[in-house]
Amino acid sequence: MTRYTIAVLPGDGIGPEVTAEALRVLQAAAELFGFGLDTAEYAVGAAGVAEADDSLPPSTADGVVQADAVLLGAVGHPSLAAAEGRRRPEAGLLALRKLLGAYANLRPATVHPALRHASPLRPELLEGVDLLIVRELLGGLYYGQPRALERDTAVNTMRYSVAEIDRVARVAFEAARGRRRQVTSVDKANVLEVSQLWRETVTRVALDYPDVRLEHLYVDYAAMRLVSHPAAIDVLLAENLFGDILSDEAAVLTGSLGLLPSASIGDGPGLFEPVHGSAPDIAGQGIANPLGAIASAAMLLRYGLGQREAADRVDQAVAEVLTAGARTPDIAGPGEAVVGTREMGERVAALVLGAGVS
Ligand code: IPM
Ligand code: MG
Repeated sequence: MTRYTIAVLPGDGIGPEVTAEALRVLQAAAELFGFGLDTAEYAVGAAGVAEADDSLPPSTADGVVQADAVLLGAVGHPSLAAAEGRRRPEAGLLALRKLLGAYANLRPATVHPALRHASPLRPELLEGVDLLIVRELLGGLYYGQPRALERDTAVNTMRYSVAEIDRVARVAFEAARGRRRQVTSVDKANVLEVSQLWRETVTRVALDYPDVRLEHLYVDYAAMRLVSHPAAIDVLLAENLFGDILSDEAAVLTGSLGLLPSASIGDGPGLFEPVHGSAPDIAGQGIANPLGAIASAAMLLRYGLGQREAADRVDQAVAEVLTAGARTPDIAGPGEAVVGTREMGERVAALVLGAGVS
């Protein structure tokens, strides 16, 4: 039997709750498709600071590089909002992405028909929405040097090389080939030199993909298109910060940030995590939506382990549980009954195993 090692990093806030449900569903998929999963848990974020005074402890770093894939919950804790350096929970996540060489972040957003009411947008705008954000994850302002915070000046640097743009653009074009063959590249080339290089490089990469249509949009206009004509977007390619912002905006289409999964892939084991944060306000209450984490587990199966059928099965179970009316509070309409985090996970796992909905 094929066995895989999964490094599990539950992290902070609702991270542990949603990760437990993602693992439940992964185990169900492994059982059904006849492969084995060995999981090893490590601390990250505020949990890492509590354990080793480091948001990415050395034991975690050792564990993740040896795994076949990494499943992460969420990082961030109000008590560390003012922490500095490696004691910032977010610094642990950035260090982890870097360590894994995870330069391409895939964030799909689709609208389940039963959830059109959950979005503040008019339901007819949401018809046919099926987009994939490909966000560059290891460059731009997040990592650019120099950076500094002084008393009355602060500096961050947006920096990209041709090689960094080229490799993430190829991920976007490859993904488009399996979809509607259209890439929307986002930049601010009317103002930023970095964006001019971005546009030039993406245009050159496109020559290798003559079957894929490329359009360039300025980021401000792209932000508007994303909510005015979301169904017209297939693959949206963006640098790190633009992609961060636009992916939260895309979450509005789906009805809840709690539904969005992500895969961060590149040179090492892939990193799979829901797009949402640690949500300290609802942590520990058993009401968080685990579907973003569960859909991230499906991406882990697809991109991390190459178990495509198992991935399809999990995606299908998520769609079915929503069709069957299961709702955590974030996606419940007026008067709809709600289920908790665990029940939602159990129902998806049961659907994966073909047990139907109780
Ligand atoms: C995300 C998050 C992170 C980011 C934070 C927590 C550092 O917002 O994954 O989108 O900005 O990349
Ligand atoms: Mg974000």
